Amino acid sequence: MAIILPQRGTYDAYYDDALNMEKIEHRISEITHNYGYNPIRIPMYEAVELFSRSAGESSDIVTKEMFDFVDKGGRHIALRPELTAGVMRAIVTNKLYANYDLPLKISYCGPAFRYERPQQGRFRQLTQYGIENVGVTTPQEDAEAIILGYNITKKIGFKHVILKINSIGDQESRDAYRTALRAFFKDKIDSMCDDCKRRYEINPLRILDCKVPEDQEIAKGAPKMGDYLNEASRARFNEILKILDANKVEYVIDDTLVRGLDYYSHIVFEFHYISDNGTNLGAIGAGGHYDNLVKEVGGPELSSVGFAFGIERLNMLLKEINPEEYAKPTLDAFVMYMGENCRDKASELAFKLRNDENISCDINYTNKSFKASFKIAVRKNARYAIIIGEDEINKNVYQLKNLQTQEQIEVNYEDLVKTIKE
Ligand code: HAM
Repeated sequence: MAIILPQRGTYDAYYDDALNMEKIEHRISEITHNYGYNPIRIPMYEAVELFSRSAGESSDIVTKEMFDFVDKGGRHIALRPELTAGVMRAIVTNKLYANYDLPLKISYCGPAFRYERPQQGRFRQLTQYGIENVGVTTPQEDAEAIILGYNITKKIGFKHVILKINSIGDQESRDAYRTALRAFFKDKIDSMCDDCKRRYEINPLRILDCKVPEDQEIAKGAPKMGDYLNEASRARFNEILKILDANKVEYVIDDTLVRGLDYYSHIVFEFHYISDNGTNLGAIGAGGHYDNLVKEVGGPELSSVGFAFGIERLNMLLKEINPEEYAKPTLDAFVMYMGENCRDKASELAFKLRNDENISCDINYTNKSFKASFKIAVRKNARYAIIIGEDEINKNVYQLKNLQTQEQIEVNYEDLVKTIKE
């Protein structure tokens, strides 16, 4: 029978990978909880309009990368390309803004889907862990989100991340900047790609995200956002930078950073990491402030800030940075027995350790030789082997072998548990 291959751009994570992704998610969940965030779970698919209204008609995510389809009931649906829009929709349809204190501090984790060209660290199904702080007005709240993101990178094992920051200002500043960009690209746009021609009409800021090398070269000479920030936008940006300085958060101001989603205003940021071997997967996490998203999806006007990390990218880099600490599946103990007569006793012990003592253990019921069983125990990274034969059953004891030191002792049940737990 022919093998059915996985879909292009998808990724099977198992054993070490899956375990570590779970650990990263668990760690992020602890940290976001410490910052007062509450989890949300939202559907993986929504009306396509939710994403075109929020991410923006000019973004690549909407124009090129959406996994959309018409369902059997004739509805135009899309698999979510990110979770922010869905969170906003959930806030509006569940009236969270009326039922809970503002700002709403919401965290999430789950898959997103983008029809991108797969390459290292870029998948068509990816996992995002993110937060949204909705109902935010002060620069302190924006800064807090950045500090939280920065601390997440530290706590999960990145010593040096590059935090790129920029302000794309308020609506007035961006309008002035768009006018300046149109003036700059006016006599160049005819030689640029078709996407850029479209971006020129809808949102010239998106030209700055173009991946075509010739267009990128032209865009290098474009005016910089920083020169078009009005006074209020500049003041907000400076206030945020001051808070980051006070909290010893290192950052670089990147005045080319505009982000690929249309909903941002004011502060935008990205976390990058380049390994000692030169591995650079692009942004490991990114976000920014946004003003109109809740309103765009039918709710009240609520300014917000948020970010999302890409779990696959974090995992790939952490595996490279710290292979020794990269967790392997482990067991506290592996139970082995001699002969069918001892099987029930061994099985009873395994259940007891797992259920009553919270000790992780495994047992192999195919009654292999001790030699084979020891090999399995070592491969499973078991710390101890527990050996049960007729003698042990008669004396009501166990042989407990430390698989690191190879030291073997005879113990009763209480000492067995005590030693393993030590
Ligand atoms: P984003 O920059 O599009 O922002 O994605 C956030 C992160 O998801 C990226 O930094 C990257 O680590 C990961 N990511 C994105 N695309 C891929 C891919 N194809 N393969 C692997 N990883 C990927 C957002 O999605 C915004 N919703 C973030 C946000 C939340 N802004 C405000 N609130």
